[in-house]
This record gives sequence, C-alpha cells and structure tokens, in this order.
Amino acid sequence: HNVLVINGPNLNRLGLRQPHIYGSQTLDEIIESLTQKAESLNIALDHFQSNAEHELIDRIHQASEKTDFIIINPAAFTHTSVALRDALLSIDVPFIEVHLSNIHSREPFRHHSYLSDIAEGVICGCGPQGYAMALDAAAHFLAQNN
Ligand code: DQA
Repeated sequence: HNVLVINGPNLNRLGLRQPHIYGSQTLDEIIESLTQKAESLNIALDHFQSNAEHELIDRIHQASEKTDFIIINPAAFTHTSVALRDALLSIDVPFIEVHLSNIHSREPFRHHSYLSDIAEGVICGCGPQGYAMALDAAAHFLAQNN
C-alpha cells in the first residue's frame, strides 16, 4: 500500500518554530522515523510539504492515481481553506487529519477545521507521535478495506 503524508505551511520550520508548542523535532526527523515505521508495516511512504496552497491542492489531485491513504497536517490552511477541502472531496482517497498541538486548547480561530467532518479520523495534541498513530490507523484501515 501507498500512504502519502502531506504537511502544510510553516511545518518546514518545525524544531525552530515555537518549540514550546510544536516540540524540538524537525520535519526531516519526523518523516525519517515515520518512513522506518512504514517499512515495518509494509507500506510505501511518500512525503510532500509546501507553503503554497495551490501546490498542496495539485499534490492532492495527483494522489488520485496511486495513493491508498493520506495523512495530512494542513497547518494554518485547516482553519481557512475551502479549496483544500474541495481538493480532498475531489479524490476518492481516505485521509486522517493530524495536528501536533491540541487546536481545541488554543485560540478560538483554531477550533474550527474545514476538513475534520470529511476525515476518516482526526488526531491532535499528541505531538510528532500523532503521525505514527495516524500511520497505525491507516495500516489498520487498509488491512480492513482491501
Ligand atoms: C498545526 C495547528 C495549526 O493551528 C497551526 O496553524 C499550524 C500547525 C499543528 O500541527 O498543531 O501551523 O496544524
């Protein structure tokens, strides 16, 4: 199975960016350990990070070809982007939404997500571990559904 991990704007700054909220691990370190975990689950992992909404949308469209499952941290676009929602609705690939921080314990404008109600599941507040949890859930979902 093929799982695509998508990370949105400013997540390339992980490790440097507000470490008291987002932790000290870099995105490269998170993806590295996720890739190892994927191997042990017999999953091929692909990763894409962009700060640009249209690039995220284009990558989601491409995922309709060979991706079985998406794990996405849409970052700030979570709270703003009808376009990302529509992109995910335009393909037939299930996804889990991940946030490092607990968006519900932060500013009110972070409480709403344009994606949560169309997601297979949502994980937030578990730090980088949330990606690993999402990968476990994806593996379970794929084993059940194919
Ligand atoms: C985030 C939470 C968002 O509110 C924020 O804009 C981010 C990161 C998280 O992983 O906790 O950039 O998605």
